[in-house]
Order: sequence, then C-alpha cells, then structure tokens
Amino acid sequence: MYERALAIQERLVALRRDIHQHPELGFRETRTAQLVADTLRELGVRARTGVGKTGVVGYLGEGSPVVALRADMDALPLQEVNQVPYASQVPGLMHACGHDAHTAILLGVAMLLRDLQLPGQVRLLFQPCEESADKEGKSGAERMIEDGAMKGVDAVLSLHVGSSLPTGYFEVEAGTNSAAVDTFFATIVGQGCHGAYPQRGTDPIFITAQVINALNGIVSRRIDPFQPAVISIGSIHAGVAPNVIPQQVELNGTIRSLSEEVRAQLHSELARAFGVADALGATHALRIEKGVPSVVNDGQVVAVMRQVVADLFGADKLLPRVQGMGAEDFSLLAEAAPGAMFRLGTMPGTEERLGHSDTFDLDESALAYGAAILAETARRFLTGEAPLPQRPAA
Ligand code: NI
Repeated sequence: MYERALAIQERLVALRRDIHQHPELGFRETRTAQLVADTLRELGVRARTGVGKTGVVGYLGEGSPVVALRADMDALPLQEVNQVPYASQVPGLMHACGHDAHTAILLGVAMLLRDLQLPGQVRLLFQPCEESADKEGKSGAERMIEDGAMKGVDAVLSLHVGSSLPTGYFEVEAGTNSAAVDTFFATIVGQGCHGAYPQRGTDPIFITAQVINALNGIVSRRIDPFQPAVISIGSIHAGVAPNVIPQQVELNGTIRSLSEEVRAQLHSELARAFGVADALGATHALRIEKGVPSVVNDGQVVAVMRQVVADLFGADKLLPRVQGMGAEDFSLLAEAAPGAMFRLGTMPGTEERLGHSDTFDLDESALAYGAAILAETARRFLTGEAPLPQRPAA
C-alpha cells in the first residue's frame, strides 16, 4: 500500500499546495469543497456535497460494514509569513494546522481504494469547521453527524499532522487522546463612581482581581494533582477613563480537562470562585458553554492501526504518545462509532513549525505515509483481515 501511495505522492503534494494557497475559514470552505467533489468525481467516486453545511462525503462501495475516514478542511485567521511558492494567497488566512494536508491525504485514500472492489463501504468524510463553531455552538463534526454522515458506521479513522514529530514516525494509543474544552463567559457588576472616591462605589476591577486569585486556586488547590486540568482567562475588559471606576468587568476563558469527573468538578469550582464577587458586594453572571469532549481512541481500532504501521514501516516507528490539552472535534465522531486518530510525523527537518503559528509548515513527504496507513487500516477492516470493533447499540 505504501508503494502505491508513493506513486500518487506528486498528486497529493499538488492538491495540498492548491488547498494551502486558498485557505477558507470554518463553514466557508466552498472552494475547497468544490475541489474535493470534483476530484472525487474524476476518480469515479460518488460524492454528496452540502453535508454539515460545507462538508462533502465520498462513497466507495455499498452496504455494510461501513468504515468512515475523516479529514477536516478549515483554515485559521493568521497571516502566513513563510516565503514559499505555495504560500497562502488570501491575506489574513492560513492553513496553519495542516488541514490542507489532511484533505489531500483523504483524496489519496480515495485513489488507493477505488479499484480494490472491497466488500461494504468506505465513506470519506471531508468535514468543515473543526477549529470553531457556528452561532449555535456546533462545529463541523456535529453538523455532519446531524446530516447523517455517521449513520451505520462501524469504525471511524482519522489522523492529525504532528509538527514536533519527525517524518516517518507515528503516535497512536488507546484511551484519552485530547482534552475536553469548555468556555466560560462572565460579568462582574459593581457600582461605578469617581476614581478619587472609591468608597462611594463598589469597584468591580478590585473584586475581579480577587476572583482571578480564586480561579487560579482551583487547579492548584481543588483538583487532584494527578489529574490534568487547565483554566485560562483569555480576555478581560473594563473601563474607559483613568479616573472613573467602571460599572462592570467582563472576562472569558477556556476550561480543559481529560476526564468527565474533573470536567464537572471544574465547572462547580468555577461557579464557587465567582461567589467571591458576591461576598465582596458585587453581583455576577456566569455562563459555561460546553464544547467538545475528549477524543477517546478505541482499543481495537488502535491495535489494527498499530499493526498496519508495524507491517508497513516497522514497529520502531511507533513512538509513545505525547499528551496535550488541545481539543479536537473528532471526539464527536468517535462517540458515534468506535474510532481512532493517529498522529502523523510531519516535522520539516529538525525545526519545529508549531501548529497555529504563522510559520507553520510540514514535510510533504509524509502525505504518502498518512494515505497508506488510513487506506490499509480501512482495507483490513472491510476484508475481515482485522475484526471490526463490536460496540453495543447506544
Ligand atoms: Ni487541527
């Protein structure tokens, strides 16, 4: 399979560069979706567009079992600084998370599997909007599920490029693989007054300072030290004049956890910390918007992926997983069916080009590795060479 992937490597690079030059934000991936649909149809693959708003689903074969493979297509609001011939042509937008590579790799999977006449169905999910959400707080994975993309799926596979993992190396392990993310929005309301006469009001800035202390005490004092958790305040706004104590302070932040137990505890502790505002004479409003849960990789799907990597490239190419507190909406797909996401080494040379930075780039020779592993894992499941996971119906 890797040899066959090497044969299409040039096409994958061309596709990745085309997408890289034309980045689009979440739920606005119209050009990318068109390119995907056109490419699938050229390959003789049935394609359905407008799935989950701007998503595309490609269908190879029919009936069951169904193995789904997912690539995300959206870019980020960043100005690319790389001086490369394929740099972004859209000011202020950039594929800085490698979703251009994910999309090209999944088109490669279509090229590798279309002639194999596999039993059942390979379903290719080209997903919009992984990085953000629409007005109703729903990301691309959730919208695609609502449109039936996961109906009847027996296993779902995906990958993410790894900007600090050397090319030719892979990480995939069972269990929790990303953080659950929630967002909080808060307002602390005091009583504005003249800055020279603070005793006449209730200073919401002073009170917010006490609340921030309480917030920072949650992870250090209230959560089990062996349980990863993060609360970060990312935005804080109050006041207009140096000599006027404002009426209110607005602050927002992100909440990360790796278990549902800690996630619930963080929410209740956050509510308690904001109680400090009331104790000091202000009032507050706190809203927690639930984001996506942790990606939990299915043990059996992981075992097959690891075997594929070992057979194609050698078991020594599997490195231990490096855990982080990033989030990924693949978690919703992996809740809908047993699934796994692996990390594909794409570090260009010895230099890290971190995701979500304006210097991000990747080693394109890794595209063939990614396509080969996804295609071979799907092939083994559909032919019965590897047993499909059995999960009791929810
Ligand atoms: Ni990403």
